[in-house]
Amino acid sequence: MSLKNVPKVELHLHLEGAAPPAFIRGLAKRKNMDISGVFDADGGYAFTDFRHFLQVYEAATATLQTPEDYHRLTLAVLEESAANGVIYTESFLSPDFCGGRDVGAWREYLHAIRDAADQAEREFGIVMRGIVTCIRHFGPEKARQTALCAAETAGDWLTGFGLAGDERVGKPKDFAYAFDMAREAGLRLTAHAGEWGGAQSVRDALHDLRVERIGHGVRAAEDPALVEELAETGTVLEVCPGSNIALGLFRSWRSHPIGGFFDKGLKVTVSTDDPPFFHTSMTREYDRLADAFGWDDAVFTTLNTTAVNAAFCDDDTRAALLRRLEKSDA
Ligand code: ADE
Ligand code: ZN
Repeated sequence: MSLKNVPKVELHLHLEGAAPPAFIRGLAKRKNMDISGVFDADGGYAFTDFRHFLQVYEAATATLQTPEDYHRLTLAVLEESAANGVIYTESFLSPDFCGGRDVGAWREYLHAIRDAADQAEREFGIVMRGIVTCIRHFGPEKARQTALCAAETAGDWLTGFGLAGDERVGKPKDFAYAFDMAREAGLRLTAHAGEWGGAQSVRDALHDLRVERIGHGVRAAEDPALVEELAETGTVLEVCPGSNIALGLFRSWRSHPIGGFFDKGLKVTVSTDDPPFFHTSMTREYDRLADAFGWDDAVFTTLNTTAVNAAFCDDDTRAALLRRLEKSDA
């Protein structure tokens, strides 16, 4: 039986990475852009490894050029998430792609995304919050400009700041200035680490950027002392198993460390990352995890409660989400 209707809370979703291929194809056609190299024979996104994935991601994103494009994208993404039972989603937003890190342009993109999110909440019952993310392989200077965009628009909807991109480029401390700026603006912090970098990369993100959540974090499994530290500090991991498996980090669902992490009491949550790129959805993630680890509704309620408690939202929103989880549990 599919877990499609189980209510789900997602903390790690890249907005552009959630764009359906047909949506991007439609934009490219309207704008006379040739991005045929982005797709495979079946019309899905085509890439060979993580570096190529990032190139394809950026080529597909080049078709998104106006606030109106982002309005339509946000609505399409949230409709699909809601159809998979997602009641709350936190999405990574990129001023790099939305107006080239110009604060005025970014405000217009953000306004369009937020307007679409409000419409999706009314129409599909899904709640969204935004996390501005800087992109590691674009370098620290661009990250500072991105942090300024985030700081200028921080508030009750734009609530977080993060770091994505190629973890093999540079070090977390290169981005400390950007993270300090975001922290001072009241934003809550997360960083991708322990995906393409090992355990030390997770330690560096925790200590040099002082983040409260880690995106992925799965390579911590290589270092038992770090696993213990994560458990003791209650660091929340935004784990995206289907993404890790599609990108070749682990060979199977059963060998993915999320099962062991949960058994050791780590605060794990489940997300899709870039669902159409990895041929996944929140429903598929839950179904595969139930198959691999025998997880039942009680486990998924634990994961979702952890996610709500770690969500970058205000307390009223958090309380309303907890009530929705409790109601479905009755
Ligand atoms: N941007 C989009 N998906 C990503 C991932 N899995 N890792 C790092 N950066 C990303
Ligand atoms: Zn990610």
